[in-house]
Amino acid sequence: MEKTSLIQRIKVAAVDDIPQKLGKTVTIGPHEIALFHLETGEFRAIENRCPHKGGVLVEGLVSGEHVFCPMHDWKINVNDGQVQKPDNGCVKTFKVEVENNEVFIVL
Ligand code: FES
Repeated sequence: MEKTSLIQRIKVAAVDDIPQKLGKTVTIGPHEIALFHLETGEFRAIENRCPHKGGVLVEGLVSGEHVFCPMHDWKINVNDGQVQKPDNGCVKTFKVEVENNEVFIVL
């Protein structure tokens, strides 16, 4: 039996909407997502809540491939969602695609 594909691809921004090194909050159904525009021009999307005490990650400082939580400065990799040592934890990541100057999140 063939599996039904439930992949959703949702347009969430235009590339120029989000300056580099900043983020935008995107809500899709139950997911609150922090979408970041990196210095490299690439986009990354992660869950918008820090695993420590729920800091809002979209308000954090973006540096290279990491975001620093605005509450207590935990450093989180935006590629794999891993909290960097000495702290521990991870956030969910979401796939991002860019096409014709538009940014999509794939669920
Ligand atoms: S809530 Fe993010 S570091 Fe404490």
